Amino acid sequence: MSRRIRLGVNIDHVATVRNARGGLHPDPARAAEVALQAGADGITAHLREDRRHITDADIAVLSALCLEADRPLNLEMAVTEEMLAIALRHRPHAACLVPERREEVTTEGGLAVAGHEARIAPVVARLAEAGIRVSLFIEPAPAQVAAARAIGAQVVEFHTGRYCHLPAEARASEFARLADAAAQAEALGLEVHAGHGLDYGTAAEVLAIPEIVELNIGHFLIGEAVFTGLEPAIRRMRAAMDAATGAPA
Ligand code: PXP
Repeated sequence: MSRRIRLGVNIDHVATVRNARGGLHPDPARAAEVALQAGADGITAHLREDRRHITDADIAVLSALCLEADRPLNLEMAVTEEMLAIALRHRPHAACLVPERREEVTTEGGLAVAGHEARIAPVVARLAEAGIRVSLFIEPAPAQVAAARAIGAQVVEFHTGRYCHLPAEARASEFARLADAAAQAEALGLEVHAGHGLDYGTAAEVLAIPEIVELNIGHFLIGEAVFTGLEPAIRRMRAAMDAATGAPA
């Protein structure tokens, strides 16, 4: 059955380049506008505690831009009171809780939800009460999926970094782990997203998992933009995703 997968374009690394010179160029808001014109369904940005790329001012501009364009902003954030306050102020469409500190990270790199429910659940609840869709960026591991469901998340975003970093011939077992976790998540009523490290090839590959409804992709697209321009890079990703799922172009 054909299906159209949502593409969230993460524009963090436009800000990384901008910040390298401390000026205003290149502007992540301009990148967001181009991304939406090129077929992105939404914009993703990670306001890090250390503000190494996206800044508080960027989030204000991106919130207004997405509101105006009637497209979702997905705010990636650490599980802290500071980030919670910022999310509640801007009320993005979605918030994706991600690890930033070493002790919050699971073995492979997702948020350690299992074992940390008491710390994460209140943040999930306060975001959800404000009408923000809450996603947890986790490893495709049964315990993490079960914990995400238990603390009331609506969405899980599976960390595809491990899959993408493996050589192509060694990916089968990690694919199976992603597929099993996606099936488990959907059976529990969770919406399934995926992201991290995806390129044209790996994005198409993971879309063989039928439960995935959204991909969030940044680094590869911003890198490709150096060679092809941002709009063509996003259009090509959109086409690769549509070809993978049989969606009409
Ligand atoms: N999803 C989440 C939760 C992330 O933290 C990131 C990286 O910021 C991405 C997706 C995108 O990963 P990449 O930049 O490797 O495409």
